[in-house]
Amino acid sequence: MCGIVGYIGSQEASPFLISGLERLEYRGYDSAGIATLKQSDAIRITKVAGRVAQLNSAVEAANPDGKTGIGHTRWATHGAATQVNAHPHIGGSGNISLVHNGVIENFETLKTGLEAKGYRFESQTDSEVVAHLVADSLASAAADRAGETTVEDCIDAVRSTVAQLRGTYGIVVMFRDHPDLLVAARCGSPLVVGVGKGEQFVASDTSPLVGFTERIIYLADHQIAVIRPNNIQVLHRDHGRVRPDIQPLSNQSQDVNLEGYPHYMLKEIFEQPQSIRNALRGRLDKDNATAKFGGLNLTTQQLRGIERIILTGCGTSWHSALVGEYLVEELARIPVEVEYASELRYRNPPVGSDTIVFGITQSGETADTLAALREMKRKGHHTMAICNVIGSSIAQEADGGIYLHAGPEIGVASTKAFTSQLTVLSMLALYFGRLRHLSFEAGQRIIAQLERLPDVVEKTLECHAQVKEIAARYADANNFLYLGRKFNFPTALEGALKLKEISYIHAEGYPAAEMKHGPIALVDEHTPSVFIVPQGTVYDKVISNLQEVKARGGPVLAIVDHEDPHVNKLADDVVQIPEIEDFLQPIVASIPLQLLSYEIALLRGCDVDKPRNLAKSVTVE
Ligand code: G6P
Repeated sequence: MCGIVGYIGSQEASPFLISGLERLEYRGYDSAGIATLKQSDAIRITKVAGRVAQLNSAVEAANPDGKTGIGHTRWATHGAATQVNAHPHIGGSGNISLVHNGVIENFETLKTGLEAKGYRFESQTDSEVVAHLVADSLASAAADRAGETTVEDCIDAVRSTVAQLRGTYGIVVMFRDHPDLLVAARCGSPLVVGVGKGEQFVASDTSPLVGFTERIIYLADHQIAVIRPNNIQVLHRDHGRVRPDIQPLSNQSQDVNLEGYPHYMLKEIFEQPQSIRNALRGRLDKDNATAKFGGLNLTTQQLRGIERIILTGCGTSWHSALVGEYLVEELARIPVEVEYASELRYRNPPVGSDTIVFGITQSGETADTLAALREMKRKGHHTMAICNVIGSSIAQEADGGIYLHAGPEIGVASTKAFTSQLTVLSMLALYFGRLRHLSFEAGQRIIAQLERLPDVVEKTLECHAQVKEIAARYADANNFLYLGRKFNFPTALEGALKLKEISYIHAEGYPAAEMKHGPIALVDEHTPSVFIVPQGTVYDKVISNLQEVKARGGPVLAIVDHEDPHVNKLADDVVQIPEIEDFLQPIVASIPLQLLSYEIALLRGCDVDKPRNLAKSVTVE
């Protein structure tokens, strides 16, 4: 959470800082601020307890000039979302300024030590501690040199500060007395340096760098970047200089505009035919009726020897894992365990040596998923990432993996990443199945379904107008139930999560039959139930559950996949989606549910792309 940016060079810093923060706002939007600096001047801080748009107005009014600058958009962890707690923070007597992404676990102890030395704290944040620590280190160096500090002193001050920190951090530090210098450091929170000509950039991810540079350096944990207008050095905190690995900025990072859509979420919902095509591209091997992946980094023999799979993730990615369990067990007959990453990292379950662990993550930065994978890797398991963001921490740390190629997902509520994850998991299940018992013919049938998928999703999107009209009838409800069975139980969970996330309506997803064991008590004329009831082995069972809700006066919205007179008679509203085999139904059935939550959130006046209290990339525990 939190997004940070930095600029140093020959241009005014604030335009890049503001545009970078706009692109990073998905990481948090409780408050925002920038600090700028010009030669022989004081550091100028502009910050607001609000969004980047408000910061932009404040910056236009204050016009803080300077060709060196840092910026921050915050997701509050320590201290409320006030202006005082907004970053950048000042260290010492104003000679340094800093932005921080992460959580400093030992900040109380460090703060007590600093207070004893006379440092006064303005904010309740853990980050201000880091600012004062750098200032304190620098003060010691200055004392040794009659008040003067050198660039080396600044680097040493950051190095000695980060050595004292426990927790996670990505920081960028600016020094009043060295306006031609920025120092960035990371541990657990991502940082990318953008390499320019006569100017350099730094940011939490690559999106702010698009259009400014095409060459980037991903900082690794414990690395420190010393950034000057004409030069970048990378050091390891403990081992000195390292050769920076300069990489091209991937094309994927380019697609960050709304392109005429009112919201990123809607744009991303409508991108799904294409994002699914991208996930499938080059991965269907028709000759062998299987799928192929370039980056698993295991031999066919090793993959054939896998006896158990753990799928882990958080939020929507955890829902993908649940679908993955059904897919892999059904198509490949390999036992699958689905674990919340936040539980797996501390749970220490018995895991045999023939187990492989997949972390499913859009961002590749989710702290719990990263920690769970690290823990499993430490125990000697092969770890894989199913990930969207190229070069993200999890993509880099996993032993192998599969990229989604869904393009940037900016809306906080995940849509296209979810359906791309399911597409990849379907192909993975096919691949594992074909290594085992799955016949050539069955493989061909699955491939044929996968090939249809983008067009089917395209067709499904035609339900938008109808869903919009239905949404108006349900937008005032305070509670919703989402019910489905088998492959569509996770679809129900995801539908409920989407609604909760962006419209703040309480919603529960349940396996339809489980409803009788509690949630049915919620059913009354004000509590709509959304039933996912396509044809298939559990169709009749779900119809019975639907009848149970109707018998208690609950309004029903049904998602069906054929002209269904039976359901038409029972349900209050019916949305028909195209038919597809059951293992791909969660992808198709999710589309009307995404649209429903989007339209309801709009009707309730909610901020669809930036729902309250949430952030897209959860880099804290
Ligand atoms: C946050 C986002 C969710 C996302 C979850 C996991 O909660 O708001 O949309 O599903 O993190 O993120 P990941 O990037 O690991 O998929």
